[in-house]
Amino acid sequence: MPDMSSTTTDETIPSALSHLECGHCSERHDANTLQNVCGQCGGPLLARYDISSISATLADVLARNRGQFRFHEMLPLAAGTQSPTLGEGGTPMLPGRGVGENVWVKDESQNPTGSFKARGMAVAVGRSFELGARNFCLPSNGNAGGAAAAYGAIYGVSVEVVVPSNTPLPLIDEIEALGGKVILVQGSIADAGALSRERAKDPSWFSLATLGEPYRVEGKKMMGYEIFWDFGRLPDVVIYPTGGGTGLVGMVKAFDEMEELGWIDSLRPRMVAVQVAGCAPIVKAVTDGADRAETWLDPDESLAFGLRVPSALGDRLILEGLRSTNGTAVAVEEKEMIDASLSLARETGVWGSPEGGACLAAYRQLLASGWLSAGDTVVLYNTGAASKYSG
Ligand SMILES: Cc1ncc(COP(=O)(O)O)c(C=O)c1O
Repeated sequence: MPDMSSTTTDETIPSALSHLECGHCSERHDANTLQNVCGQCGGPLLARYDISSISATLADVLARNRGQFRFHEMLPLAAGTQSPTLGEGGTPMLPGRGVGENVWVKDESQNPTGSFKARGMAVAVGRSFELGARNFCLPSNGNAGGAAAAYGAIYGVSVEVVVPSNTPLPLIDEIEALGGKVILVQGSIADAGALSRERAKDPSWFSLATLGEPYRVEGKKMMGYEIFWDFGRLPDVVIYPTGGGTGLVGMVKAFDEMEELGWIDSLRPRMVAVQVAGCAPIVKAVTDGADRAETWLDPDESLAFGLRVPSALGDRLILEGLRSTNGTAVAVEEKEMIDASLSLARETGVWGSPEGGACLAAYRQLLASGWLSAGDTVVLYNTGAASKYSG
């Protein structure tokens, strides 16, 4: 049974952040300078920590309050547990009930703003604020924009979000209600990205685009730590809806860090990236055995807005993460996904976002193909709340 207990937090321990490293060319960068991507090759920057300096044992960490800042030594915020928070993380690991005896649902819809995007934004806005950023811009399919606006509200900074014009109204309303500025563009997140990059050319604005800055991934990696804390071990398989890939890259990073901490051995959960059939660049790259994903031209409309990502800056890291864990990538049809969302709701009590339904649809495919068995312990991610999509 997953551990749901909560106790105390030591607020005096500093972050063990030591430097940033390019995920592509491994160039080392200063972690105390505000920056987006590698100045050498344009690759995504990853935070690195002086793990040998951490004295807390696993038992010490488990004795602290649940939630995003539980293991703040492994987060980049200098303010640690004193950082402004809306109560991110520490989400429940719920039994899959009728879906399968060994299936669990990590319900990220219980995060602030109703999605796992709050984890990344709490850390990215917070750390960039510590380094001097006051105006933030990003392209978003909706959830990331809402989360950014929420942290914009508590840090008192400007947030400008470029979203595709077909984004559901509740997602747009949320950004505006939280004080963010919304700019609508025709097309997909790729078009939103192009416009937001224009804004980011102004040095007084800082871009929070997915994997285009080092710290969103740090917040999201806590999903990997939490799976381990919830079970006291790692599951056999993790099924995750993948758009820009920060969540998947973050979890794989967390597992590597946990091995370095001496908490786990080299065995990893097999990671599964789930995409929609009408926009599946990562699935295509896995099928082709490629180490980069080609841009998906003319992505189909999908209810899973978060998965309509034709090209991800982190494609190489996502593909490495799948390969290094003996994982795979699965494309699900729109109808399959919608049916699975309803099954998830009725079997588990979690009315998930379409992206959560996509994970159950992928689970069914992988069970049918024999890639996984009913005996495998499987975690499905419900990354957001269904209610944000009905507009
Ligand atoms: C609900 C939901 N699930 C999954 C994703 C994909 O997330 P990632 O960028 O970590 O791949 C998104 C991104 O917008 C989302 O909003």
